[in-house]
Amino acid sequence: MVALSLQRLGKRFAQNTILNDINLDIASGEFIVLVGPSGCGKSTLLRILAGLEHADDGQVILNGRSINRLPPRERNIALVFQDYALYPHKTVYDNLAFGLSIRGTPKAEIAEKVTAVAEMLQLTPLLQRKPAALSGGQRQRVAIGRALVREAQLFLFDEPLSNLDAKLRTEMRMEIKRLHQRLGKTMVYVTHDQVEAMTLADRIAVINHGRIEQLGTPAQIYQTPATLFVAGFMGAPPMNLLRLPVQWSVDQAHAYIAGQVIAVQHLAAQQGQSLTLAYAQNISPSATRQITTQQMTTQPTITAQTP
Ligand SMILES: Nc1ncnc2c1ncn2[C@@H]1O[C@H](COP(=O)(O)OP(=O)(O)OP(=O)(O)O)[C@@H](O)[C@H]1O
Ligand SMILES: [Mg+2]
Repeated sequence: MVALSLQRLGKRFAQNTILNDINLDIASGEFIVLVGPSGCGKSTLLRILAGLEHADDGQVILNGRSINRLPPRERNIALVFQDYALYPHKTVYDNLAFGLSIRGTPKAEIAEKVTAVAEMLQLTPLLQRKPAALSGGQRQRVAIGRALVREAQLFLFDEPLSNLDAKLRTEMRMEIKRLHQRLGKTMVYVTHDQVEAMTLADRIAVINHGRIEQLGTPAQIYQTPATLFVAGFMGAPPMNLLRLPVQWSVDQAHAYIAGQVIAVQHLAAQQGQSLTLAYAQNISPSATRQITTQQMTTQPTITAQTP
């Protein structure tokens, strides 16, 4: 069942188009990861979903209902902000409790939920501190906790682990994965971290210049990137992109570098064109001076020199 549907979403700031024709259907309980270079519009998209920005074009449909005109507090969506946005004068406990207390949740229930979330996020010793007395990583965990105590129908995370050290990051990633499995809630998660994207996502949307370049499972994105941008952006280490002039026309060919097959699908090019090979193997730069292609149909082996 489609929980969240983004239909032809567009956003401009002044003359600049920030989001352009974003179409995305997210299934109930799905974990969608948005990746893309800095400034491509990821946070803006989350802010539109949360109701903190208005879309200039298109619709956001949540559970079959357009929510374009619904104010943020009526959306039942929890957002973890990239810059935390904690209340500076409230303690960690009160920051965590705030979303529940404004909804009139009984005190005992608040205490139970805050205690459980604080324990999970290793915040228990910090509950009486104020945000100014916390490290960046601790503030980030409070921001995550504030979203988690609420029983929202949609969770939005904007790079929630970016300020944590490697060990805590791995732990928190597993915690978020478990949490998603336990709650079964729909989640949209922005990250720059490829490991996070590959391990958390049911599907990844790769965004570039305000458009979705490719939407697919981690395996689809990794193994069959739809564009050169996706091929260059995803994968650690990143894929090698090798541009070379074509000296002989080839059709249905394999490409080899130093005897290793690097491209097996429909490699076809005409003499005089240039061709970009994308390959993941770690091959020494000197070996890439000799690119060999072998026709799959006929058998002659031909060689191209890279520039
Ligand atoms: N209120 C605003 N007014 C004008 N321009 C804005 C505003 N908010 C964002 N932008 C611009 O919109 C573009 C997208 O910003 P956004 O914050 O969505 O990027 P992002 O993909 O989240 O980047 P990052 O990975 O660095 O967080 C940027 O060029 C940014 O400068
Ligand atoms: Mg951002």
